[in-house]
Amino acid sequence: MATPARSDDVNPIKQHAGKATAISIAAAVGGFLFGFDTAVINGAVESINGRFQLGTFASGFVVGIALIGSAVGAWFAGRMADRLGRPRVMLIGAVLFLVSSIGSGVAFAAWDLAVWRFIGGLGIGVASVIGPTYISEVAPAHLRGRLSSLQQMAIVIGIFVSQLSNNWLQGINGGASAEIWLGLEAWRWMFLVGVIPSVVYGVLSLGIPESPRFLVARGKEDAATRVLTKVLGDSPAAIQERVADIRKSLQREDKPSFADLRGPRFGLHPIVWVGILLAAFQQLVGINVIFYYSVTLWRAVGFDESQSFTISVISSVTNVVVTIVAIFLVDRIGRRILLLVGSIGMFLSLGTMALAFSQSITTIGADGKEAVSLPGAWGTIALIAANLFVVFFGGSWGPVMWVLLGEMFPNRIRAQAMAIATATNWIVNFAVTETFQPLADLSLAVAYGMYAAFALLSFFFVFAKIPETKGMELEDMTMETRQRVRKS
Ligand code: GLC
Repeated sequence: MATPARSDDVNPIKQHAGKATAISIAAAVGGFLFGFDTAVINGAVESINGRFQLGTFASGFVVGIALIGSAVGAWFAGRMADRLGRPRVMLIGAVLFLVSSIGSGVAFAAWDLAVWRFIGGLGIGVASVIGPTYISEVAPAHLRGRLSSLQQMAIVIGIFVSQLSNNWLQGINGGASAEIWLGLEAWRWMFLVGVIPSVVYGVLSLGIPESPRFLVARGKEDAATRVLTKVLGDSPAAIQERVADIRKSLQREDKPSFADLRGPRFGLHPIVWVGILLAAFQQLVGINVIFYYSVTLWRAVGFDESQSFTISVISSVTNVVVTIVAIFLVDRIGRRILLLVGSIGMFLSLGTMALAFSQSITTIGADGKEAVSLPGAWGTIALIAANLFVVFFGGSWGPVMWVLLGEMFPNRIRAQAMAIATATNWIVNFAVTETFQPLADLSLAVAYGMYAAFALLSFFFVFAKIPETKGMELEDMTMETRQRVRKS
């Protein structure tokens, strides 16, 4: 019989939850690099254009190539994770980030800068797959949503820190093109700052345990038992049962391969298609237009440079705060409801932005250039709507998509299916951000109207296709998720 716990005993479940949380935070540092590295270019791009005399196309290429690298990195990360193990892939990601931060900082021409940015993209892609995959595999089921949301938390903090660090560096000597230390301009230091989190990520990846699901797939059940005991703290019998369930869920002895993802219709298994569409919708609502172009956007509607910077910082802080709210809710009210509410909120806020921009007036300034402005209260309305959009995205689709991708696939195909869905997320991110400028030249109302339409579609998609996975064991994901997809 178990001895009753004394009131001053440390609660064992809490203690183990603490371990799982610590391990998850370490894995989520990759998310920080993901956010930092995608956003850092914003503060550097104008100086880069000046330094290497880049035209619009070349400049767009240097910015966009990191997203292409991310798609490629994500694509390969799944296979690498199944061959090398999860922490080793994190280490590879850290090295890619490190090389890219140093290379971009000392780039001597546009072409080598593009190469370094591509390499950084590979790191971002790797981190975006391995973080959620690993966290969902080590987390206890009842905390999985929260712990997986730490990845998004780290992403948004990474975006925020890059804004602050860029702003600080360019303030030192009066601009991003001014030399500050060691004869290097501020924009170079913006990239070099990335060395610090890359090293932290690499060191942490050496200290975290291998995923128990990967260990069982490799026949290392004793090692898997040790990790599960550490993070779950259940009785030995319960742990043995879990190991047996994992073994069963892996189904076959041979190594997972791409063929496992195939399905009878449209080439892939329905659950893989659901993951791909989920990942695509997360970008089709245009979130990164807000983050990549915000300063340009708010300047275009009449705010000055420092006001525009303040607005961008407000959006980032808002994003961090609502992610905390999502972390509290995701294991309580579940994934589906958050996504559904998020879709509606995004539809309404984006629709309001479209309406506001449909009121814009174009004038020709004294310098002969066209300028857009919003009359009366429309500027304020657009501003509030944009931040409400961030609230709804950050409280739902931002974290929940990463949570679901990490957990919704059966054990055997998880890493590879996750990789394909994530690569899609990056490709759509690239397509949306690259088409924004031409679309905006046509009409900002049309651009936001399109994102609003995708937000509405995402509601119906979630309603019809996304299963609730709150509290379920990963080993039970298989039948439940498949059944739901088949039924619909
Ligand atoms: C999600 C998106 C990412 C975006 C971020 C902003 O993580 O996947 O593309 O930059 O949210 O909050």
